[in-house]
Amino acid sequence: MDHRTDRAFALKLGELDLNRMPTVTQHRDSLKTTIEDLAIFGGTPAFETPLHVGQPNIGDRNKFAARVNDILERRWLTNGGSYASEFEDRIAEIAGVAHCVVMCNATVGLEIAIRALGLKGEVIVPSFTFIATAHALQWQEITPVFCDIDPKNHCLDPAKVEELITPSTTGIIGVHLWGRPCDIDRLMEIATQRRLKLLFDSAHAFGCSYKGRMIGSFGNAEVFSFHATKFLNSMEGGAVVTNDANLAQRMRLMRNFGFTQYDQTDSIGVNGKLNEVSAAMGLTNLESMTDFISINRRHYKQYRNELAGRPGISLLHYDERERSNYQYVVVEVDEEKAGVSRDQLMQILHAERVLARRYFYPGCHRMEPYRTLYADSSLSLPHTESVSARVLTLPTGEAVTPEMISNLCGIICMVLDNATEVRKLFKERLPA
Ligand SMILES: Cc1ncc(COP(=O)(O)O)c(C=O)c1O
Repeated sequence: MDHRTDRAFALKLGELDLNRMPTVTQHRDSLKTTIEDLAIFGGTPAFETPLHVGQPNIGDRNKFAARVNDILERRWLTNGGSYASEFEDRIAEIAGVAHCVVMCNATVGLEIAIRALGLKGEVIVPSFTFIATAHALQWQEITPVFCDIDPKNHCLDPAKVEELITPSTTGIIGVHLWGRPCDIDRLMEIATQRRLKLLFDSAHAFGCSYKGRMIGSFGNAEVFSFHATKFLNSMEGGAVVTNDANLAQRMRLMRNFGFTQYDQTDSIGVNGKLNEVSAAMGLTNLESMTDFISINRRHYKQYRNELAGRPGISLLHYDERERSNYQYVVVEVDEEKAGVSRDQLMQILHAERVLARRYFYPGCHRMEPYRTLYADSSLSLPHTESVSARVLTLPTGEAVTPEMISNLCGIICMVLDNATEVRKLFKERLPA
């Protein structure tokens, strides 16, 4: 590829539909030594095919195929199938909780849990989360009241939660962002004192612990996601876990249209069932779960070593005393110290075909319909605003190799070493 073609490719990357890109990523030995080597300025992209954040981990293909074969043989594809029920048992066992209700995805799991808990009026949630947390409330015409985060753990700040409680508040949804737990003890105290329901969006936190106890049995219920991008996937899928048998029973009914018997519904419901092939994928991946976690942990440590001491770049820390799934490699870019902005670094990496992501930018409160519905929200979310402007997530997981990480970190370090020059070239060649 000549430089002009390459640059055109680099600039066009932002317009591509990332979902339609090839998924196989190969490493090419194109190490960068000068800024003219950077693809954004005309060099050859470091990677031949895109390196995604959240590329699926896939367990033993033969075991998965055998399970799918069995499903087809028995012609039992969904509705109370044995794989879904086995998946429920395994999840409950790992999370240390009495009941697990698997769902077609975590968004429907959140919606059902919210309805089964009887939430209404206002519910306090972080804005720094995936949009599904807020949508699950607004979808049911419940007002998500956006609360600021603690910049140290990126989760709900309990002191701010207390300030937002009104007579209309019925619940709190904490999100264990990146798999790192909220201040669960404090949130439980507040919920008990103020007689509020407490739900956790634990989409990121399967396999993680809080003070030595597995995430899954805190609050009234917790919701896991097994979406393809999660370290443990069932292609699409989710689960609500709880120690409350009545709540679990209500959610089981809601998951299946409210049917109590053939030809009889006693209450409203939706279709939230997990199909058998997804459950088979989940079970197969569970067998490789410890491998996935150790790969993620190794990658996280490599990133930590290779980016250590770089001014303006801090890697999000996982507490080694707890169980973590290490599924997100998150850096915060401090533009003043790094010399380049988070967005410039992201553009540079995208041009190299490293599709680093600005999760969860710009915060739910700045996305529709919330921006219009609750226009004053941003006035009280200073930490959400500043953290979401700094965060960049980098690729990890089974599909990523140590060589790829070295190559990628090499690019970041070279950019930081030449930040003044890089900034100048951005101004000259890529005026905003
Ligand atoms: C914090 C959070 N909550 C909820 C969801 C929704 O999960 P699902 O895609 O399984 O519906 C996600 C998905 O990425 C998430 O990150």
